Amino acid sequence: MYILGLNAYHGDSSACVLKDGKLIAATEEERIRRIKHWAGFPIEAIKFCLKEAGISIEEVDYITISRDPSANLQKKILHTIKKGVSLNTLVSRFTNSRKVSNVKEELSNALNIPISKIKAEVKNIEHHRSHLASAFFVSPFDEAALLSIDGFGDFTSTMTGTGKDNQITVLDTVIYPHSLGIFYTSFTQYLGFDSYGDEYKVMGLAPYGEPTYLKELEDVIHLLPNGLFELNTAYFKHAKEGVTMAWEGGYPTIEAIFSDKMVEKFGRLRIKEEELTQEHINIATSVQRMTENVIFHILNYLHKKTGLDNLCIAGGVAQNSVANGKILQNTPFKNVYVPSAGHDAGTALGSALYFYNHELKKPRVEPIWHAYTGSNFSDEEIETILKYEKENKEEAKNIEYQILSNEELYKTVVDSILDAGVIGWFQGSAEFGPRALGNRSILVDPRRTDAKELLNEKIKRRESFRPFAPSILEEYVEEYFEGADKVPFMEKVYPIRKEKHSVIPAVTHVDGTGRLQTVSASTNPRYHKLIDTFREKTGVPILLNTSFNENEPIVNTPQEALNCFLRTKMDILVLGNIVVRRK
Ligand SMILES: [Fe+2]
Repeated sequence: MYILGLNAYHGDSSACVLKDGKLIAATEEERIRRIKHWAGFPIEAIKFCLKEAGISIEEVDYITISRDPSANLQKKILHTIKKGVSLNTLVSRFTNSRKVSNVKEELSNALNIPISKIKAEVKNIEHHRSHLASAFFVSPFDEAALLSIDGFGDFTSTMTGTGKDNQITVLDTVIYPHSLGIFYTSFTQYLGFDSYGDEYKVMGLAPYGEPTYLKELEDVIHLLPNGLFELNTAYFKHAKEGVTMAWEGGYPTIEAIFSDKMVEKFGRLRIKEEELTQEHINIATSVQRMTENVIFHILNYLHKKTGLDNLCIAGGVAQNSVANGKILQNTPFKNVYVPSAGHDAGTALGSALYFYNHELKKPRVEPIWHAYTGSNFSDEEIETILKYEKENKEEAKNIEYQILSNEELYKTVVDSILDAGVIGWFQGSAEFGPRALGNRSILVDPRRTDAKELLNEKIKRRESFRPFAPSILEEYVEEYFEGADKVPFMEKVYPIRKEKHSVIPAVTHVDGTGRLQTVSASTNPRYHKLIDTFREKTGVPILLNTSFNENEPIVNTPQEALNCFLRTKMDILVLGNIVVRRK
């Protein structure tokens, strides 16, 4: 049985294919369209997933989409009547909803196949149930407490529940206009980071300040005795006036959500590119701290209610790796699973799993500990591409390449890293989810004190306050990190042991933490071997890993990797077993 799962007409649109409940392929549309967070119908991702599964759309049994326009309809209407205010947001979401119900028509047009030939039934799965399923059904737990938390989806911002075997039970929800995601996004905009998905910048900034605005924030968001929370809507525009959001055919945008009252309370907002003052930084610190407090409040209540020690979390707010890393310390939960695509792209997979496991009551297949379900190319394909580019592209004329054995490859790459090299490392299947996890990565020596300058000079211009991440062999986690467990998807931040700060300065954030990826030999043997070769030479089982891109989505194909190499001052480019250099 084939299920095509979709996240469509929403940020980070994506597709996946399940065969008898097993994940065959999954990718974000942005990787193929080359526009970050691309929102719309993910036709290129669909084509890729069908190709990987070796099937055509006619062979798909079910199409699941992670939106249910009928979900919470009564609440939507009630809210509309009660408020009697501008319905900009709701209207745009309803128009959007009509599209959600025309998936087959859209597929038929895009694939040029008569609609009568698409026999698949289309199933709408509520956004947050999709988030919950995207975590629980691929987690290692038979039973777990569940939390989905984000900006909004299907009029809901937060959903708690429990999962047992192949069933999910919803316990509580927080509905529009109350949203922890909106709270975080509003302050992100207020601090001058106005692009969709900029929240991680506030998280990166937070360790530089003091949480001096917590008192003020207590008036903005309230913890409730029922284990949930509410916003003071006077600080926001979305509830009363509506906020324009664009979700179709490109980069998603959201108009400023904060109201004048927020500016009165917190002082002048920061204009983009303006210098960050200590006050701005302290607001970031306070917002991050308050967000953590709200998450722990929800989780402590959830633990009390369920008595379960295992936890699965997903949703945009669950991308807050700093908060995720503090869950074990601040709640009674003992194990936490966050999927590689915990953001909206992951709802494509979640909707498919929810339908297969929960609705069809099929047994769960297997936990997922890797994210490598995207584009992939053989060495032969890569060589053909390189030959073509060399012959046809002016900029590529000056490259030379060598095909190496595995042993030679690891040695060559490590030698280059030791020689202050910045390495483009393109291997196997691309990652599903926002993090590069060793298959589409740029690698640098983590022991360098000038790594930031090196990367800025050779590749990326980015804010100086943002940290770089360490990939560490999972066998050595204890030696370098305090209290860290398995972190396969860079989804949690943990403190680096004090005595190691000076050993790996390039990946130690200002507060002594690191957003680590634990690398296992079973899920990524090549990356594991490369880091181990570096360890043999240096004694340090870690590499600095940043995503392979330059102001664009992560590279998806060898051509894009080569273009990035040619545009920048990257030292060597490694595509499979092929090493590319400038002559
Ligand atoms: Fe979401």
